[in-house]
Amino acid sequence: MNQTICPSGPLKGAVEMPGDKSISHRYAMLASVAEGESVISNYSSGADCHSTLGCLRTLGVEMKIDGREVRIQGRGLNGYVQPGQDLDAGNSGSTIRMLSGLLAGQRFTSRLIGDESLSKRPMQRIMTPLAGMGARITARDGKFPPIEIQGGELKAIDYSMPVASAQVKSCVLLAGLHVDGETMVREPAATRDHTEVALREFGAEIETGRGWAKVRGKAKLQPRELRVPGDLSSAAFFLVAGAIVPGSELVIAGVGLNPTRAALIDFLVAAGAQIRVLDIGMRNGEPVGDLQVTGSDLKGGEIAGALSASLIDEIPVLSILGAVSRDGLMVRGAAELRIKETDRIETMASNLRLMGVEIETAPDGFRIPGGQRFRAATVDSFGDHRIGMACAVAALRAEGEIVIENAEAASVSFPEFWDTLRTIGR
Ligand code: S3P
Repeated sequence: MNQTICPSGPLKGAVEMPGDKSISHRYAMLASVAEGESVISNYSSGADCHSTLGCLRTLGVEMKIDGREVRIQGRGLNGYVQPGQDLDAGNSGSTIRMLSGLLAGQRFTSRLIGDESLSKRPMQRIMTPLAGMGARITARDGKFPPIEIQGGELKAIDYSMPVASAQVKSCVLLAGLHVDGETMVREPAATRDHTEVALREFGAEIETGRGWAKVRGKAKLQPRELRVPGDLSSAAFFLVAGAIVPGSELVIAGVGLNPTRAALIDFLVAAGAQIRVLDIGMRNGEPVGDLQVTGSDLKGGEIAGALSASLIDEIPVLSILGAVSRDGLMVRGAAELRIKETDRIETMASNLRLMGVEIETAPDGFRIPGGQRFRAATVDSFGDHRIGMACAVAALRAEGEIVIENAEAASVSFPEFWDTLRTIGR
């Protein structure tokens, strides 16, 4: 499917985001191993989070999905039933990597598969710690999906992750639920801590400190009623759109503002974006607030070191901001971008060049000079949700129409994106 987006005058209005993708996965997985019925409202409408639900169903978990509300009958820590078919994670790295942690502790063998993109993404990062805990895992060519997990009794581990990845940290903590003892994970840079927060909500014994988290296994998890906050990584597209289109004023209500994600707001403000947090509260251990963004005079900025890990999902759309800012954008220390749903350094660079934007790539990032314009072009999402949506944001400030091919990819995290975009433009 193609989407054609025209340049727009000031963007106005209030927009709603889907439920946070990261939190939706975690709530569904933890609810499935709790003892009783959990009710999750504002569950992400994205295909990725529905891949998690599909896998849980295949594992015998009963659930009722009513729009954005999901009722899950937890089966306890060891209650999954041996699946009669492969578990299909679709496009979702979070599903395959985090669910593997729970499967490693089950007394049966399961096989996880994914789509073409997921089948090229590295799995050694979870295979190594899970093997260290005693699970037997094999993968295609030793590293790619499909992966086969022969679960069983697991032992405690103290694991220092070589890469900063919340999916890996979560996988180990979830496997740790099955261990008689304490499982420790250490991270080289702070990553999102939704698993730690959610484990606490479900009544697990978890301790956290700067750069580490430790879970005590074998606890019974309590079922919960939970509401997923709006997705800040989806809001990023509207925050950048509101900032780059002069005269805009947008409100995004009910967005998750967990400090391990909100580096985005700090970065945008430092880059010159005018953003106000209108209201803030706590829900299920997660901060939630309303954001207002207005058209801004942008300086641009630099993303490097630990900040790259915090902003990893937002870098595609931040490249759009960089191009129209005064000083541009420099990204370093973000080699992880190359192993996301696509190689996001190459797919973004290819689209930016088609739109007439100069960009210089490096193995771990890129540099985009400031003061540039987007010209009319046909670009491609390459099947990557965040690439398609980032190009749509560029189109709002382009000199002519931008056609985005394979635009349906947005539905991986944000099926309502194209309709939402049309409500604010003029
Ligand atoms: C996620 C962690 C990040 C992020 C992904 C969601 C999560 O991946 O890019 O979109 O929910 O834990 P990595 O763990 O590979 O960095």
